[in-house]
Amino acid sequence: MSSSESSQLPNIDLSNCRDLIIGGDAAQVLDRLPAGGIDLIYVDPPFNTGSTQRLASIKAEQDASSSRTGFGGRKYKTTLVSSHSYRDSFDDYLGFLVPLLEKSFQLLSSRGSLYVHLDYREVHYVKVELDKIFGRTNFMNEIIWAYDFGGRSKQRWPAKHDTILLYAKEFGKHIFNYEEIERIPYMAPGLVTKEKASRGKVPTDVWWQTIVHTTGRERTGYPTQKPEAILKRIVEASSTAGSWVLDFFAGSGTTACVSQQLGRRFIAIDSNPQAINIIKNRLDMTNVQEISC
Ligand SMILES: C[S@@+](CC[C@H](N)C(=O)[O-])C[C@H]1O[C@@H](n2cnc3c(N)ncnc32)[C@H](O)[C@@H]1O
Repeated sequence: MSSSESSQLPNIDLSNCRDLIIGGDAAQVLDRLPAGGIDLIYVDPPFNTGSTQRLASIKAEQDASSSRTGFGGRKYKTTLVSSHSYRDSFDDYLGFLVPLLEKSFQLLSSRGSLYVHLDYREVHYVKVELDKIFGRTNFMNEIIWAYDFGGRSKQRWPAKHDTILLYAKEFGKHIFNYEEIERIPYMAPGLVTKEKASRGKVPTDVWWQTIVHTTGRERTGYPTQKPEAILKRIVEASSTAGSWVLDFFAGSGTTACVSQQLGRRFIAIDSNPQAINIIKNRLDMTNVQEISC
């Protein structure tokens, strides 16, 4: 669809609609949203790893006639239950992402914030572009999400963190619910008073959080799914009840799911029909409308 065709699509009136799941290209959908209406945008774009992100879910069942031998010499067969993927390779990554970040600035309310979740490949280039769009005085944090799981390189330090850049639309007016942030234990509780130790501390900009467990409750089978705990911290801190929360690289719908749990309104956009199906299965759809662009 050309941009002139997308501009002919009707605009979305947020004052008069339910929560939204939108299947389509972010570049076209964002043009239909009203400026200044969103309090929180969290995006976790493709990281430009140079390959396709895939995740297959396989079920193993005992089957005496199978040639596969597993634990205890038992025979079993495997069946492919589901397979999800999306493209993660761009010749011009900034050309793809920067127009969407410029649009994000327009969509945010004056008390709004943008979180952009990246890894070491593109984060520095994107930071420079975001400084131009938001102004360096509105840059708030470089949050490090540290985990310790998966393969380990033996040729360099194993890369075990992502970076989340945080910008305010207008620093000082932005929502930051300091008192509502869930506290965590001190690393060295013996160094603070008993009272402080039992209260815990507000997290710093380094967040230790394990990845979504392969057999965990929140696992959807979608590749690169992010933990609800990360989104819960973001949504609780940077939006209020009734705020509109937008994620235009929604994937399995983690942002939408957490927003729904916390009583926020949400717009989840993804160009991959597999992602849209997963989001619909993950959410209570009572007050949610689905649109395809
Ligand atoms: C890293 S994943 C997001 C994962 C998500 N945070 C989660 O917790 O499941 C990035 C998503 O961006 C989507 N995507 C890529 N290009 C897009 C575009 N132009 N418009 C909308 N979605 C896009 C992909 O389909 C993929 O689902």
